Amino acid sequence: MLKLGLLGGLSVIALFFFYSQLGDNFGVIPFHHRHHKHKPKNAREIVAHCKQLQTRVGPTDDILRRSVSDRFEEGTKPVLIKRAKIWTGRKNGTEIIDGDILLDKGLIKSVGHLDVASDLVSSYRGRLQVVDAKGAWITPGIVDIHSHIGNAPSPILSGADDVDSTKGTIEPWLRSLDGLNTHDESYPLSISGGVTTALVLPGSENAIGGQAYVIKLRETSERSPSSMLLEPPYHINSSFPNPNLPRRWRHMKHACGETPSAAHSATRMDTTWAFREAYNQAKKAKDDQDSFCSQVLADNWKGLGDFPEALQWEALVDVLRGRVKVNVHCYESVDLDALVRLSNEFKFPIAAFHHASEAYLVPDLVKSSYGKTPAVALFATGGRYKREAYRASEFAPRILAQHGITVLMKSDHPLLDSRHLLYEAQQAFYYGLPYNLALASVITNSAEVMGMGHRIGYVKEGYDADLVIWDSHPLALGATPKQVFIDGIPQFGHAFVTEKPDNFQKLPRVPNFGKEADRTVQYEGLPPLEPPKTPLEKVTVFLNVKSVVQPNKEGLASKELHTSPDGTTSPGIVIIERGKVVCAGDPAVCGLDGLRQRTNVDVVDLEGGSIVPGLTTYGSPVGLEEINQEPSTNDGTILDPLTDSIPALLGGDTAIIRASDGLEFGSRDALLAYRFGVTSAITAPKSPGFLGGLGVHFSTRASHRLDEGAVIQDITAVHVAVRHFGKPSVSTQIAALRRLLQGKVEGAMGHYFGKVRSGEIPLVVEAHSADIIATLIILKKEIEVDTRRAIKLTITGASEAHLIATEIAEAGVGVILTPPIPMLWEDRRILPGPPLTNQSAIEALLSHGVVLGIGCQQIWQARNLAFNVAWAAIEAGGRISKEQAIALGSWNVERLLGVERDPDFLELVATRGGDLGDFGAKVVAVVSPTRQEVDLLEEGA
Ligand SMILES: *[C@@H]1O[C@H](CO)[C@@H](O)[C@H](O)[C@H]1NC(C)=O
Ligand SMILES: *[C@@H]1O[C@H](CO)[C@@H](O)[C@H](O)[C@H]1NC(C)=O
Ligand SMILES: *[C@@H]1O[C@H](CO)[C@@H](O)[C@H](O)[C@H]1NC(C)=O
Repeated sequence: MLKLGLLGGLSVIALFFFYSQLGDNFGVIPFHHRHHKHKPKNAREIVAHCKQLQTRVGPTDDILRRSVSDRFEEGTKPVLIKRAKIWTGRKNGTEIIDGDILLDKGLIKSVGHLDVASDLVSSYRGRLQVVDAKGAWITPGIVDIHSHIGNAPSPILSGADDVDSTKGTIEPWLRSLDGLNTHDESYPLSISGGVTTALVLPGSENAIGGQAYVIKLRETSERSPSSMLLEPPYHINSSFPNPNLPRRWRHMKHACGETPSAAHSATRMDTTWAFREAYNQAKKAKDDQDSFCSQVLADNWKGLGDFPEALQWEALVDVLRGRVKVNVHCYESVDLDALVRLSNEFKFPIAAFHHASEAYLVPDLVKSSYGKTPAVALFATGGRYKREAYRASEFAPRILAQHGITVLMKSDHPLLDSRHLLYEAQQAFYYGLPYNLALASVITNSAEVMGMGHRIGYVKEGYDADLVIWDSHPLALGATPKQVFIDGIPQFGHAFVTEKPDNFQKLPRVPNFGKEADRTVQYEGLPPLEPPKTPLEKVTVFLNVKSVVQPNKEGLASKELHTSPDGTTSPGIVIIERGKVVCAGDPAVCGLDGLRQRTNVDVVDLEGGSIVPGLTTYGSPVGLEEINQEPSTNDGTILDPLTDSIPALLGGDTAIIRASDGLEFGSRDALLAYRFGVTSAITAPKSPGFLGGLGVHFSTRASHRLDEGAVIQDITAVHVAVRHFGKPSVSTQIAALRRLLQGKVEGAMGHYFGKVRSGEIPLVVEAHSADIIATLIILKKEIEVDTRRAIKLTITGASEAHLIATEIAEAGVGVILTPPIPMLWEDRRILPGPPLTNQSAIEALLSHGVVLGIGCQQIWQARNLAFNVAWAAIEAGGRISKEQAIALGSWNVERLLGVERDPDFLELVATRGGDLGDFGAKVVAVVSPTRQEVDLLEEGA
């Protein structure tokens, strides 16, 4: 909207003249000398430009009085949403309104009780689409403060990664907009998770990576990147934006620490100097402009040349003028400190520190940044993947909030799939961030921090019509949009969501992690995680146990303890002696009273919780790595016979490596997994190529290999990967596999493939494309005809397995799924699940009778398995039983990956306040039949 006030009497003709001149002069405001005195012909324009430099950025006051959104798409129908439970984002995220919302012209026109007979509503005369929300929760659209969507598009194809420039460390002139791919398959997927807006940042390999842009994720009728932008600064198409237009926020990416330093073979010292040098340049340019302008504004034109413009530095000059939201990737105290000093030296505010894994340890440092205290944008549980992230904590959001620092959760998409950004907020909530701040962390506060809080992030009259109708309370695990509106446009024709029961419609209850959070700060982010030792002769009694799931020879069987014959509920008890359940059921029958007299008894009230088998993680290098990006903490990668020459000492090409030989115990990720119910792990040697080697099954609790029960099974299965990139062709990989399966290879490798041939141990193949999986099925049959023995084949990853679910089931092939995201061409045909498709990939495979497990990729994800399992069950809308869900993360995983253990020796996990994976539940104990002990995890915590 033009704001002519500044220039008073300037005529339209003069404006036109001004612009036609600017169009021909890139980089300088021309100085047109008049014949007399020093005043140039275009003095008025120069004055306007100088005055503009003093104006403040931000929306004009009339933004909320607009009657049509600048993003309104012609033909969008007005919508009346009735009977909603609206989280408005107002009042610090605590306001909830039962009411109706009217959307028109891309805007929220009205919120409250809208009588259909009212003047406003009846003025639409039947043009209105009425949606009955039936009491469903509505929030503003989710706003992602940190995304690379479009710049690192899915699927990634060669040359299409436009995230990091390699041309220099200081590049404030670059713009993420220039690489924004409109065909990213993530747009509809992220919308299906409720995300409507994202700040697309350049990557972190440069100290100053360039300018970032806010986009809305929906398709536009123009189909261009520019048309996706939300309130773009006028600089996108003009070196000298019209000085009369209101200033809009600009956005900039900075990064400090490891990433920019490593990318430019520099040290932190070099990177910080690069910042200072750049800011000094920008400051000089700004000072030149300011002194030029102070002369202009004093009407003293003597000796003035051209306006001292510097196109390269103009964005950084705008940072110094406080017109740019600076978003800084910065992890450790050492880096935060450098950036805080920089902000004070050059006097510019920082909008947010991103990643900032140590911010919770140095809140005062964060607050001493120049100007307004920066927000801190975090992952919920992602951490420890490099030194900088080693002290990351799930308790950081709550701790920062306690210090009054604004907490945001972010995706860094595609690092985390932004479709599940709300899950980050849910986890932050689970670990103690108050619910109002948890929701605000991905909606209202992220909108505010990106400078868009005047039009998005709230359900409020005059705001953009970006809304999500949820199928549950938004902080309940598995919350899924029933509909998403962006600029008033409904994003789904039909949403596949099943009605969720009442208990999903309430704010979930969460456990108390207060002590754990305190300890985390006390130990500077590294609280001891080893469970305390318990004396062998102790008896443990669990009170108020709702159910017990125990393994038998066939699988998992659930026993409800809480219903007595007369129908009244009386929770049961479970007694553990020497790591075994000796009684489970009625307190009187189990002899509770007698036990209470004894002294060597630990009594643990589970408050309606349950006891289930410990989970088993697969897919990440847990056990072989402590810090992913630190080679000195890792086992390393193995050589691949298809591409590397293998030393003769190893047996040449026929060598096969055992993961068990490289195990490192006691990593923080392993112990965290243990504390959250993941008591064992199966890991294969880390391989970048075709051959993986021999997997191992081990305890996530053990502190070294000689610990009792540390290695549960030394050799589990043979692992290979058949994939599309950076290797000999897929056909070559299959040819190699065929020879191996035909028994044509000697040595150690021949020995283990012989076991695969005879069906003794499984062959585990990472494969994603349906075509590769189909080829593997044919190969399996080919060999079986020859050997007349069934080969055990398990496919992992398996993004496209659902396309041939029938054939996979028929062939008796098992599958371990990792959560699908269409990262590469070979896994682009995912089955996304609700709300986009009726079935999730998990359900599709289960419904065909495929034996299925759930895996992960990153070590830090291992601890989240219980949530993944619970989520799968929620998504299936009750069509998967509790035992089936747990089996997806335990029993099935073990069977599919070659674990053979006596069901009596499975660890059991006790949760308080709910079932494993419930937001109300906390893992409080692990029972080990092998060690004949019970770990009480809260002791010492
Ligand atoms: C916002 O809510 C948080 C958490 O509930 C609370 O600690 C904080 O004081 C509130 N802020 C305001 C301004 O009310
Ligand atoms: C330049 O971009 C602005 C939005 O920032 C838009 O309103 C205007 O139409 C664009 N001008 C041209 C000539 O494309
Ligand atoms: C979704 O799938 C279930 C079976 O898994 C079926 O009963 C139901 O009818 C399907 N719903 C729709 C809308 O297709």
